[in-house]
Amino acid sequence: MQGRNFKILFIGDVVGRPGRNALKRSLNDIKSRENILFTIANCENASGGFGITYSAVDEIFSAGVDFITLGNHTWDKKETENFIGEVKNLIRPANFSPLSPGNSFSILEKDGILLGVVSLIGRVFMRKKTNNIIIDFHAEATSEKKALAYYFDGKVSAVFGTHTHVQTADECILRNGTAYITDVGMTGPYDSIIGNNIEDVLIRFLKGIPRRLEVANKDIRIAYVILTIDAKTGKAVEIKRYIEKIEGV
Ligand code: FE2
Repeated sequence: MQGRNFKILFIGDVVGRPGRNALKRSLNDIKSRENILFTIANCENASGGFGITYSAVDEIFSAGVDFITLGNHTWDKKETENFIGEVKNLIRPANFSPLSPGNSFSILEKDGILLGVVSLIGRVFMRKKTNNIIIDFHAEATSEKKALAYYFDGKVSAVFGTHTHVQTADECILRNGTAYITDVGMTGPYDSIIGNNIEDVLIRFLKGIPRRLEVANKDIRIAYVILTIDAKTGKAVEIKRYIEKIEGV
């Protein structure tokens, strides 16, 4: 184990069926090409653009994802509160109410390496078990994301921002060894307004009519980062970001 590096694949906001199809189409290739040990995906928009159903959870784990993280749309599907507590490695934000159902963090072991994943803030109980910790910080404001990353610098392996659906070009490793990117970006339809049908969103903005938003379906891409971690220290060794077009979905 000493001095051994391992790689994490972190996929940005998976939107609707196009996003789920992108996972099914590309995960095996990326994982074998990059020799990935753990895969994490933010999937709070995975079902119809808002929330996540049990069948989508099942589909995403079957596609090869190890941890699913959520965000502000966690409860958008009524059924979610009934199953969320039963599904290991399905992680809702830690700073919801303490009475909220569901896991706020999860730890998984593979090849003798333990990885902990937290959604939003909080690293409760985890540093005693492993130094390898990923935080998905699901937030809008760049300054808030960067501030949280510096707050955790040297204490976790990475702080990855999600939620804005636009990948930022600021990936880096901070001074004490925590990798950071403000936003990993979106996995879903790019001929859209952050995943939604353009006409629906324009009507909302122009006329102020609260139209129900549908997921768009053209120009499907997957957005992700690959992080290499030193298994002994939990510190980041390398971070790379990608957006790839998915053909034929
Ligand atoms: Fe979000």
